[in-house]
Amino acid sequence: MSKNYNIAVIPGDGTGPEVVDEALKVLKVAADKYAFKLNFESFDYGGDRFIRTNEALPDSAADEMRKFDSILLGAIGHPDVKPGILEKGILLRLRFELDQYINLRPVKLYPGVETPLTGKGPEDIDYVVVRENSGGIYTGIGGISRKGTTDEVAVQSMVYSYAQVARCLRYAFDYTQRRKKKNTLALCGKTNVLTYVYDLWERTFHDIGQKEFEDVSREYYHVDATCMWMVKNPEWFDVIVTGNMFGDIITDLGAITQGGMGIAAGGNINPEGVSMFEPIGGSAPKYTGQNVICPLACICAGAMMLDALGEYEAAKDIEQTVMTITGTKLDGLQAGRMGYSTSEVGDLVAEGLR
Ligand code: IPM
Ligand code: MN
Repeated sequence: MSKNYNIAVIPGDGTGPEVVDEALKVLKVAADKYAFKLNFESFDYGGDRFIRTNEALPDSAADEMRKFDSILLGAIGHPDVKPGILEKGILLRLRFELDQYINLRPVKLYPGVETPLTGKGPEDIDYVVVRENSGGIYTGIGGISRKGTTDEVAVQSMVYSYAQVARCLRYAFDYTQRRKKKNTLALCGKTNVLTYVYDLWERTFHDIGQKEFEDVSREYYHVDATCMWMVKNPEWFDVIVTGNMFGDIITDLGAITQGGMGIAAGGNINPEGVSMFEPIGGSAPKYTGQNVICPLACICAGAMMLDALGEYEAAKDIEQTVMTITGTKLDGLQAGRMGYSTSEVGDLVAEGLR
């Protein structure tokens, strides 16, 4: 009996809907080829809905999403809505309410894609960042007093519980084992300054590593040094695990080394629940409706989604097809220069897969 998956689709803002269309095009071909079924249901969460209704997300949204096997998201962010409202009200709220405590972000340079790192190629840039996705500064604990005066004080705390750190580290160790590459997990922290939070991370890292994953090698880097080595020696890395804020920052750096936001895909994962996959770039409002944005990140997010659903062959096939196309048709691909339109790139991948 063929498998049947119900997918919630949130095209979102700006160029989100355009790249989601291409991902769906490719996913449909994959479903035909590998004989499983995908049922898509679209949700209008995003800036336009907020402007119309003054509500970023209905309170029922998380429960609604829990009925699905997975979620595919385009982009959130609207030029007419104050920064923070949609990001917090939609993206972060869904991540938190669905407890998607892992943000999995592969940094992989595909053949033919230009990297700003001189002398580095696809064999050097191929690692994965496991970003903790439920805590840290992102919990928004803090406040402001005496706003607008010269006595104003603002606090936003980096908050981590042992349980949050431990579940993220266990996922990262397990992922490192399953990846079967260098079997090396690097913790990225700041133990020389954040002597409480990253001390908790470091102790837990070694404790769990020693007791439960003794075959996985452990390394530690401060976050500033991590940035340096991601540029100078990206080939050192296999899997990097880090907290929410550092993970946010280093994955933008990683994305640019793999060819930019048009390529970089990610997954907000709840290993025990409903996950949400997305291109990690934003809504690029400037380019909305122009059919010029690169859809590969969203297509690869779709592949990551299939992998998480257990359709490993189909997921691998999509990524392999993308790599063939970047290596041949889109040779020299870099931000803002594809040589093809958004929908043509989607067609190339769909045809290649077929
Ligand atoms: C990301 C984004 C989000 C984040 C924003 C839009 C809230 O930058 O997915 O990396 O900081 O997590
Ligand atoms: Mn980010």
